[in-house]
Amino acid sequence: MKVLIIGGTGNISRGIVAVLLKRNHEVVMFNRGQHPDAPPPEIQVIHGDRRDREDFENKMRAEKFDAVIDMISYNADDAASALRAFRGRVDGFIHCSTVMTYGPPFPFSGVNISETAPLNGTSEYGRGKIAADQLLLDAHAEDGFPVTIFKPSYTHGPGMSVHRQVGGDGSWIDRLHKGKPILSAGDGLNYFQFLASRDAGVGFAAALGRSECLGQVYNIVHPEARTWDEWHRTVAQALGVEAEIVHVPQETLIAISPERFRGLSGNFGHTQIYSGAKLARDIPEFQPETPLVKSLAENIAWMDKHNRVPDSDADDLEDRIIAAVCDLPTRFH
Ligand SMILES: NC(=O)c1ccc[n+]([C@@H]2O[C@H](COP(=O)([O-])OP(=O)(O)OC[C@H]3O[C@@H](n4cnc5c(N)ncnc54)[C@H](OP(=O)(O)O)[C@@H]3O)[C@@H](O)[C@H]2O)c1
Repeated sequence: MKVLIIGGTGNISRGIVAVLLKRNHEVVMFNRGQHPDAPPPEIQVIHGDRRDREDFENKMRAEKFDAVIDMISYNADDAASALRAFRGRVDGFIHCSTVMTYGPPFPFSGVNISETAPLNGTSEYGRGKIAADQLLLDAHAEDGFPVTIFKPSYTHGPGMSVHRQVGGDGSWIDRLHKGKPILSAGDGLNYFQFLASRDAGVGFAAALGRSECLGQVYNIVHPEARTWDEWHRTVAQALGVEAEIVHVPQETLIAISPERFRGLSGNFGHTQIYSGAKLARDIPEFQPETPLVKSLAENIAWMDKHNRVPDSDADDLEDRIIAAVCDLPTRFH
């Protein structure tokens, strides 16, 4: 199959591309050619910016693909442009959405959240994805546009920094390296799902050519949920160090810096366990198997290579919060 991937050099994209090549598909990428990692040499790359609608659509209409995987579509305008470029011209179209489309009301704690859960994006990101998904599903209902929608939860790997619950940049990796304590929100026992991008790639690639996946929406998540503190400790393990974790109520962190800790007001401040049952039913090949320590070690090596581990000494807010929390009991002596 000749498969176009819009994106291709990014975090999840590269996992997908690796599996497509393994399955002997002919892969073509569309991107701006700005990403620091070069694509595999055997891949044809069409350069352009998908937001330059005319150029993108003309370039796409000049080509013929069996299937398209759109990794960088964030709103109805992106989806409408994809429809103008590919409607009636492809047998499969995978749209990468997100679990941040689910709601009622958001932020919320939930377990076993399935694809039928109400939609209620409270961020621009979530709302944009809902609108894009809907436009594509409408096109499927109207004339059978062959869309399949994937909704990943947190997916990690080379191509992006390793996140943590309290947010911020990659400097927490430097803190762990230096033996400094790290912050965790609440009791650190909120659950989340952590999928390696190479495992995600299997799900995306194996959906191609499956008629039962057309017009369908799938959560794509690791079946085993973990607490954030398990995640923090596993990252430390990948670095070969022990994590010293200091817990602070999330309301306190948000009050200290609403901007810095804004993620705690959303998904990361709540247990969010999404059901992967539908994907497991329709795409049995999707069986995440990458050991977390291994995928994290690769992810951190990528951060080191691309100078994505900022010096934690350059910003003392975390040190000041930790010092204040540790000092608190002495005020009552
Ligand atoms: N990682 C997660 O936890 C997570 C969770 C849920 C959903 N998602 C979804 O996953 C998708 C991101 O996929 P990814 O991880 O592969 O991407 P990524 O790491 O953000 O990389 C972006 C890719 O798209 C290309 N690109 C960016 N802007 C472009 C533009 N305007 N025109 C053409 N190409 C462009 C980049 O190459 P150039 O810079 O060279 O153009 C690169 O290949 C998004 O739709 C996101 O919503 C991710």
